[in-house]
Order: sequence, then structure tokens, then C-alpha cells
Amino acid sequence: MLIVSCSHGTHLGSSIAKILRCNHSKLFFKKFPDDEVYTRFNADLLNKQVVLVQSFYKNINDCIIEVIFASKTAKELGAKKIVLVAPYFPYLRQDKRFHKGEAISQKIIAGLIDKYFDGVYIMDPHLHRENRLEHLFKIKAKRLTANALIADYIKKKIKNPAIIGPDEESYKWAQNVGEILGVESRILGKKRYSSYHVEIMLNKKIKLSNKNVVIVDDIVSTGNTILETVKVLKKLGATNIYCICVHGIFVNDALKKLQKAGINIISTNTIPSKVAKIDVSGVIAEGLKQNL
Ligand code: R5P
Repeated sequence: MLIVSCSHGTHLGSSIAKILRCNHSKLFFKKFPDDEVYTRFNADLLNKQVVLVQSFYKNINDCIIEVIFASKTAKELGAKKIVLVAPYFPYLRQDKRFHKGEAISQKIIAGLIDKYFDGVYIMDPHLHRENRLEHLFKIKAKRLTANALIADYIKKKIKNPAIIGPDEESYKWAQNVGEILGVESRILGKKRYSSYHVEIMLNKKIKLSNKNVVIVDDIVSTGNTILETVKVLKKLGATNIYCICVHGIFVNDALKKLQKAGINIISTNTIPSKVAKIDVSGVIAEGLKQNL
């Protein structure tokens, strides 16, 4: 097996290869002055099982073009099998036509991956109406989760936690982490008005006295879901508030805003940042070992 780190996969590719004791190589990537993408392999691919590691953040669309160029090239250069590892996989939230004329991005991107890869591994995909990766992709698709790592982090670092999920969709993370820890979790309600405007509703009273409140969710993007959740929790008397997410996208100054609001924010390293303290390379390596 050869692990190849793409431009947004270098923070995990080499440690995955180290755990699996297999070869690692970096894909050369550059942009031309007119914004076109250029990629080049630096390793022999003939008869190899090639695993491309790419996390789709910041320049998401360039990241997509990069893996398509790489996969097609790997096939032409004789790779036996080409698999994509996506610590963060994008475009999953647009899973239906909410308004007339919209593209259902989730299905289109999944179709592209089907066309160019033999298999795909995704860390904590944001699945909602379509709940199974196996239904979304025609190729072999495997869901990996950081929930056990998040639970372990809480167990080691946060005493007397109360787990909160900020919206209905967060139960897969908040409730599951609560179950692993044997701690009660509570899922709040959310109304989304726009990308930047959400309202968080408390559906049942919660007792938070003397608790370290830990909000657990899959994605933090603008940070507004968490900021609004914190407003509600503070009204209930919460003082020590943590937020642990899998994918810390943190667009613009989201991280600064969250920290300024006094939230202890931690994420996994599916997307690198200064708060990415939970390492998912072991979970990815284990997933590859069991399924390849
Ligand atoms: C959506 O349901 C996700 O689980 C997150 O709650 C959402 O993506 C967070 O977005 P933002 O940080 O922009 O509020």
C-alpha cells in the first residue's frame, strides 16, 4: 500500500503511513498564474494500492480537482486500486433541492468520486436525510468516527461533564459521546434562517449547576451555532463551557469570536488549526487496515 498525501492531507498522511508501516509520498501540487491546478506523483504507482489522503477545506474546489487529476493519473500509471481518505469531506449538507432549481451538491460530488475511485473513507460525514454512506456512493464507502476519541478526551480532561448537542442533527455525536461516557446528553433545537443566522431553542429545562458543559457537534463553520447555544446555556447558569467538534472549519474569524466569548474550543485534526488537539490518524489507519 502506498499512502499519498495531497495538498490538504499532509498533516495526516505521513502519520497514517507510519502507523501502517507502509510507504508515504507527497503529491506535488501547484497553481498556475491563471489559477489552473497542476499535480505530479513522485512515486512509482505500478501495481500499487494507492491511498490518496485529502481533507477538503479552504480551497475546497481546488482540492476536488486535485484528487480527480491524481486518481485519473494513478490509473494511467498502473495503480491496482485507488482509494480516497477524506478526513473532512465537503458538500454533504446540500442533500436535497430546498428551493426550485438548486443543485443537489451532495449527490453530484458523490457521483464524481464514484467515477474516479475504487473506495472512499470519510471521517464523520455530515449525513442527514440520507443516513448511510453506502446509499450515497456506488463504490465501497466506509464511515469512520472520532466519537471514541472525543469521549476519551473528555474523560481525561473534563471533570463532571454535561454533554449538549446544539441541534437535532448533532445527536450522532453528542448523544453517542454521552453514551460512551455514561453521561446524560441533551439535544437542543435549532432554526436556521441563513448561513450566518441561527436561533437555538431549549426544548426542556436542564440543570447545569456545578457542571462543566461540553457542546459536542460535527462541524463548526461560522461558529454562530455555538455562540447562540452558549447564550442559551449561560442563561441557565452555565459558567465553564467547552465545545468539542470533529471538523473545525472556522471560517473567517470564527475561532477568535468563540474564544472571545470564553468558550474552550477543541477539535480533532481532520482540519488542522491551533485547537486541533485530538489526533484521528489512528482511527483512519485502523479503518484502512481492516478494510483494504
Ligand atoms: C449542521 O447541522 C452542523 O452540524 C453544524 O451545526 C453547522 O454546520 C454549524 O455551522 P455554523 O458554525 O456556521 O453555525
